[in-house]
Amino acid sequence: MTPEEFRRRGREVVDWIASYMERVESLPVLSRAAPGDILHRLPAGPPDRGEPFESVLRDLDDIVLPGITHWQSPSFFAYFPANASGPAILGDLLCAGLGVQGMLWSTSPACTELEMRVLDWLVGMLGLPEAFLSTGQGGGVIQDTASSAALCALLAARERATNFASNARGCDGRLTAYASTQAHSSIEKGVRVAGLGTERLRLVEVDEEYAMRPERLAEAIDKDRAAGLVPCFAAATVGTTSSNAMDPLRALGEVCRARGVWFHVDGAMSGTAALCPEFRTFQDGLDLADSYCFNPHKWMFTNFDCDCFYVADRAALIRTLSILPEYLRNKATESGAVVDYRDWHVPLGRRFRALKLWLVIRHYGVEGLRHHVRRHVALAGEFAGWVRASAEFELAAPVPLNLVCFRHREGDDATRRTLDRANATGRMFLTHTKLGGRLTLRMSIAGTTTEERHVRAAWDTLREAAKP
Ligand SMILES: Cc1ncc(COP(=O)(O)O)c(C=O)c1O
Repeated sequence: MTPEEFRRRGREVVDWIASYMERVESLPVLSRAAPGDILHRLPAGPPDRGEPFESVLRDLDDIVLPGITHWQSPSFFAYFPANASGPAILGDLLCAGLGVQGMLWSTSPACTELEMRVLDWLVGMLGLPEAFLSTGQGGGVIQDTASSAALCALLAARERATNFASNARGCDGRLTAYASTQAHSSIEKGVRVAGLGTERLRLVEVDEEYAMRPERLAEAIDKDRAAGLVPCFAAATVGTTSSNAMDPLRALGEVCRARGVWFHVDGAMSGTAALCPEFRTFQDGLDLADSYCFNPHKWMFTNFDCDCFYVADRAALIRTLSILPEYLRNKATESGAVVDYRDWHVPLGRRFRALKLWLVIRHYGVEGLRHHVRRHVALAGEFAGWVRASAEFELAAPVPLNLVCFRHREGDDATRRTLDRANATGRMFLTHTKLGGRLTLRMSIAGTTTEERHVRAAWDTLREAAKP
């Protein structure tokens, strides 16, 4: 493809995306494809000769689009969102266009230094502890996901607790980790991958608002230590996946500090709320954290994938992950004057993800981002009010931000029926969880283009679906 042809086709693709943005609202939110539908429409083998670009775009419409669940629909209220925006998409395109692999500072200084600058900006934008700034002992790095961030935190915690012996000799089965019963499954996955083993993960009891009980964490750590085990890592969550519960960071952090346990805070979804000073109360105690992550790819208009991971002491992380083979040696690294982000995560290679985040922040500005976060929180408040006042539904958990958990007053069968019927309309998509053993619907409001009319339409659909 010559640059001239690229220019022409590029315009067509951007046009395709722009018209997708215009019509996504009218498409059934949840894909109606049955298993194998898309697979069977795709040829079993690749073409021997190159095909015209038009036919690829045609297949995108005819074959691929029916198999898409429209995460960017304003009526997507499922899971947590993966919202996006024009500037983010363009940033990703620029990233692809530059085709940089930024494993070392020297493989593209701008890839590293722009990332450092943007992550430092975010410390101020979100009111994060100064310890996370790259100008001190800590620093931030972009990872693909919160799962990877938790894994890196766990690995650094493991090494700190064993004075780097587990890197050399493997785990000896004595290391233990802690998270609440409401923590995301990525913590358990990290515990497995890091070699601690699921049996060494203690799931700590929560209170009636689904937040971790600090005294239970302290008891669990002390009991393990008394039994000769080595507690190394505890994860708290700011905004749990099931119900948006806020673990009490200060009390939990104090428990960990007093016992020398690495304290990781997972703010994957709700971390973005801290753009607004009035929502920062949830972060009280974050200054006690050894590491923290949040996902701009959930609520900060930056398309998947983009997780910001911060550590208070980068030396522990780097020493855990750094291996320097001859073929990566270079003068800049040896000078000690640069950051090589390959030492901050599991993969060696890395994309220039900071570009999309940079474009988003510069496009919206801090005030613009706050405006949308406040809008979503207000919409969730409005929805919660309708639930509270309704005859059919009841709230299942507090609503601190933009997730409303609710259920049918008549029980699980009625809740399930409501969910299935509402999703089958194609007019909206929401998902469920279990809270207190009861089936619960989760209305997660953070679509970039979601407006009050979409939330109201979803409410009407749900009420209709709730009828016997
Ligand atoms: C609180 C929390 N932590 C972690 C994750 C995992 O996110 P990721 O897909 O970035 O690994 C999620 C996903 O929804 C989450 O809600």
